[in-house]
Amino acid sequence: MKGIILAGGGGTRLRPLTVSTNKHLLALYDKPVIYYAVKKLVDAGIDRIMIVTSPEAIESMVKLLGSGADFMSKRTGKQIQIVYGIQNQPNGIAYGLWIAKDYIGNDNCVLYLGDNIFEDDLTPHIKKFKSGATVFLKEVADPERFGIATLGQNSKILDIDEKPTKPKTNYAVTGVYMYDSTVFKKCLSLKASERGEYEITDINKQYIKDGKLHGIFLKKEWFDIGTFDSLLETANFIRNKNNDNKKK
Ligand code: G1P
Repeated sequence: MKGIILAGGGGTRLRPLTVSTNKHLLALYDKPVIYYAVKKLVDAGIDRIMIVTSPEAIESMVKLLGSGADFMSKRTGKQIQIVYGIQNQPNGIAYGLWIAKDYIGNDNCVLYLGDNIFEDDLTPHIKKFKSGATVFLKEVADPERFGIATLGQNSKILDIDEKPTKPKTNYAVTGVYMYDSTVFKKCLSLKASERGEYEITDINKQYIKDGKLHGIFLKKEWFDIGTFDSLLETANFIRNKNNDNKKK
């Protein structure tokens, strides 16, 4: 399984912090935001990763992460491999995924939105994944901001509404997704949404139609860094966790 980390986007809600830099390069306590995404995947056994970013951020991103020398593979004990893709416009998560098509080839992939911070260990889920698609769910207080899942029996996902004005549930689809290689064929039939983006929710809906979308509830904390408050809250969470670990 290979990884794709999406690290583009304008970060408009974080201006002026993001006027001269990319959101994923901002400080999150002791490391840039993107570091946490790479580490989460590497800790879960992924050692080949494509970072998809904007033309404006590519140079800084390469300066920071290079070919991946700061990260050691769990499997080989050697450096992981990081490569880069460029998304010319912020035209959606599904388009960012499409950019990694040739890199992924016939492999399965884990797509990770670089501004999402997960406390759960993804290792068992990544190990178990064989085919279809898997999304990770979390109950939230502000469902209008996310892709929201409607569940049937045994937590089967029946539908997902992208940023609904009248949410049917509080179960947000978080920013990490596992796909088999049929995902790229599904990208071909996408049309841009009203906000001008190729939506990952539309891909997930195709898997629902095929009866192949699996949902897993996260047990621990999840943060989506899009606002000043969430940036600060996440940094405090990381600091407290680091301090707790030091005391152990
Ligand atoms: C995206 C997805 C949404 C998902 C969210 C998780 O939203 O479209 O379905 O719940 O990521 O962070 P966006 O980042 O475009 O607001």
